[in-house]
Amino acid sequence: MNTSDLPGFPHFHFQGGQMYAEGCALEDLAQAHGTPLFVYSKASMLAALGAYQKGFAGRNARICYAMKANSSLAVLQVFAKAGCGFDIVSGGELDRVAAAGGDLSKVIFSGVGKTRAEMQKALAAGIACFNVESDAELEVLSSVAQGLGKRAPVSIRVNPNVDAKTHPYISTGLKGNKFGVAHENALKTYQRAAQLPGLRVVGIDCHIGSQITQATPYLDAMDRILDLVHDIEAAGIPIEHIDFGGGLGINYQGDTPPPADDLWAQLLRKLDARGYGKRLLMIEPGRSLVGNAGVCLTEVLYLKPGEQKNFCIIDAAMNDLPRPAMYEAFHHITPITETTGSGLTYDVVGPVCESGDWIGRDRALNVKAGDTLAVLSAGAYCMSMSSNYNSRGRAAEILVDGNAAHVIRHRENPAQLMAGEVLVG
Ligand code: LLP
Repeated sequence: MNTSDLPGFPHFHFQGGQMYAEGCALEDLAQAHGTPLFVYSKASMLAALGAYQKGFAGRNARICYAMKANSSLAVLQVFAKAGCGFDIVSGGELDRVAAAGGDLSKVIFSGVGKTRAEMQKALAAGIACFNVESDAELEVLSSVAQGLGKRAPVSIRVNPNVDAKTHPYISTGLKGNKFGVAHENALKTYQRAAQLPGLRVVGIDCHIGSQITQATPYLDAMDRILDLVHDIEAAGIPIEHIDFGGGLGINYQGDTPPPADDLWAQLLRKLDARGYGKRLLMIEPGRSLVGNAGVCLTEVLYLKPGEQKNFCIIDAAMNDLPRPAMYEAFHHITPITETTGSGLTYDVVGPVCESGDWIGRDRALNVKAGDTLAVLSAGAYCMSMSSNYNSRGRAAEILVDGNAAHVIRHRENPAQLMAGEVLVG
C-alpha cells in the first residue's frame, strides 16, 4: 500500500488511494455519519499545541486557547486536559469552558463589548484576567466588581499600531480598528485603572490580527509593548504578565508561517535582552491549534456544465464553511479517493440561494455525482462561525483519536432548529 502525506496537513494522508485522518478512512466516516461532516484529528491539535509548548519550555508561560476558532466542547476538552487556559469573548464561551471541564482560573476575557451581566458572571467564576479595551469599560468593570465586593484583575489591551499584513477584516492592531486603547493613551489608562477601587492591574496585552504568516509584526509589536511596560512600571504600576495576543497563521494555499517554536525563540531573545524574560508570558492562539487539524467532508450532489463556468454543487454551503463568502478565503478541496486524469475546472458551490455561496473557484477536479470531497483547513472558524441560514441544520462533528472516531456533535435536526420559536394565536 502506498502512503502519501498531505504536505502542511499533518495526520491526514492517502493510503491505498483513500484519504485518512490518523487511522480512520474518511470514506468510512462519511458513509457512517453522512455529510457535511467535520472530522478533526486530535493528534494534529496536540502537535500544534506542542510547538508552542516547546517554544515556551522552561519559561513561566500560559497558552490560552482562543476558543472562538472552534468552541465545540470536545475540542475544548482536548486543550483543557493538555493544561491550556482559554481566551474567551462572551459569557457563552465561559459557559462552554465550564461545561468542558476547563479551569476557570486560567480564563482571560477579551472583547470590546462586555456587558455588565457577562462581567458579573466572569467575576463570580474567578477568571484570571479581563482584557479591557476602553476607558469606558474600565469604569463599568470597576463599579460591577465593587458591587460584588471584589477587585477585578485587569490588563489593558493596547493597540500597538502595527500592520499584521493580513486581510483587512482580520487585522486588529491598526489605528483605524475598533480594538484596544491607542498606544499613546495607554499610560493614562493604566494610571486611571490603578486608581479605581474595583480593579487590580495584573498585566498588559495586545492583539494585532489573525492569519499572520511572518515573525516581524510580532517582534515590532513586542518592542512597542515593552516600551510601555517600562513606562507603566516607572509610574509605579507593576505589570505581572505580558500577553502577546493571537497565534500564527496556517498554510491554506502555500502560506509558510514560521513554526511556533521558532517564532518564540526570536521573541524570547528580545524579551531576555530587554530584561523581561522572567515575566509570566501569555499567548492566545486559535487558528494555528485547530485549523489544519480539521476537514469538512461533503458529497457532490450535481455537476452542472455551463457556457462560462462549470459548477460542482456540493451538500456543504456557506452556512457550514463561511470563510470563502466572508473573506474570499481559499481552502484546498480534494476528492478523498485518489483519482487519475485532470477532469474539468469547476466552481465548487453550495445549495444556499446566494451567488456568494461558493467554497472554491476554478478548481480542477476529476469528480462525479456521489463522490465525497474534503475541504481542508476547516478546523478553525468554520463550525464556530456556522449558521442555520436557509434553515440548514449544523453539520455533525467527529474527533479522530488513532483508530477511534468519536461523534462529538450530532447533526442538528429540524426540531432543534425550531426549538425556542413560538407561533402567535
Ligand atoms: N485573541 C484575540 C483577542 C482575538 O481577537 C483573536 C482572533 C485571537 C486571539 C485568535 O487569533 P488566531 O490565533 O486565531 O489568529 N474569522 C476569521 C478570524 C477572526 C479572528 C478574530 N480574532 C477567519 O476566519 O479568518
